Amino acid sequence: MKQKLALVTGAGRGIGLETARLFLEHNIKTILVDVDEIQLDKAMEELNNELAISFVCDVTDEEKVNELCNKILNEYGTVDILVNNAGIFRCDRGPFCNSISEHWRKKIDCNIYGTLYFTRALINPMIKQKYGSIINLSSITATLGAAGMVDYTLTKGAIKSFTKSLSKEVALNNVRVNCVSPGNIEPDNRYPEMSYMNRSGSYRECAQVIYFLASDEASFVTGEDYVVAGGRKKI
Ligand SMILES: NC(=O)c1ccc[n+]([C@@H]2O[C@H](COP(=O)([O-])OP(=O)(O)OC[C@H]3O[C@@H](n4cnc5c(N)ncnc54)[C@H](O)[C@@H]3O)[C@@H](O)[C@H]2O)c1
Repeated sequence: MKQKLALVTGAGRGIGLETARLFLEHNIKTILVDVDEIQLDKAMEELNNELAISFVCDVTDEEKVNELCNKILNEYGTVDILVNNAGIFRCDRGPFCNSISEHWRKKIDCNIYGTLYFTRALINPMIKQKYGSIINLSSITATLGAAGMVDYTLTKGAIKSFTKSLSKEVALNNVRVNCVSPGNIEPDNRYPEMSYMNRSGSYRECAQVIYFLASDEASFVTGEDYVVAGGRKKI
């Protein structure tokens, strides 16, 4: 059986790093991509796994993304699993009426364009080999809305629509496209009151759902949005 190859963006920490760790535990060769070189090096050191490969790349830089993806395709062949996880969401919050367009642009560039660039660059070989799984990180806030995070939630709504439409284009080629919508996934149980389970979710708990969607266990699942939020109560 061919060794599977996965690529995870924003893999230097958080959900992305935990997803990469889980893939590696399942013997999947995994490419970790992040804009933050120091964090990425730290992640690689921590993983200490010969199946892990890392590249520094800003997902908002179309030319660099295309360059990197061409290099990967030439060197390793088709990427079987793509996780578009890199995202900006913890910064520049506040009422929309006073918001700054530069802050919208940053989130739109990273959360939307980053996902589009990587997907377009890697999907054709998946289509050709009639096998692939793409998992995009949306957010529970795309469905529920969130005051003070209007620009962020609009990017995650776009990711949900993108996922649903693209899944229909490539379904006959056995390429599955799904999204995961986390809510309150924090390492330190920051806002337990937000979920009916009265706790935050761990990075691991989110990564496990991403892994399921990436795996052949989910071979008849496409165009779906998996919420990982412990029964979300309120924003
Ligand atoms: N943690 C949550 O509760 C939660 C909830 C909803 C959605 N999400 C989504 O899940 C994803 C991961 O969340 P997280 O909590 O692990 O976030 P995080 O901020 O801890 O990690 C994001 C990673 O993306 C990288 N990154 C940011 N901009 C980049 C760029 N331009 N190019 C390449 N890498 C870049 C960062 O360096 C970082 O390593 C994000 O898309 C986020 O919007 C998370």
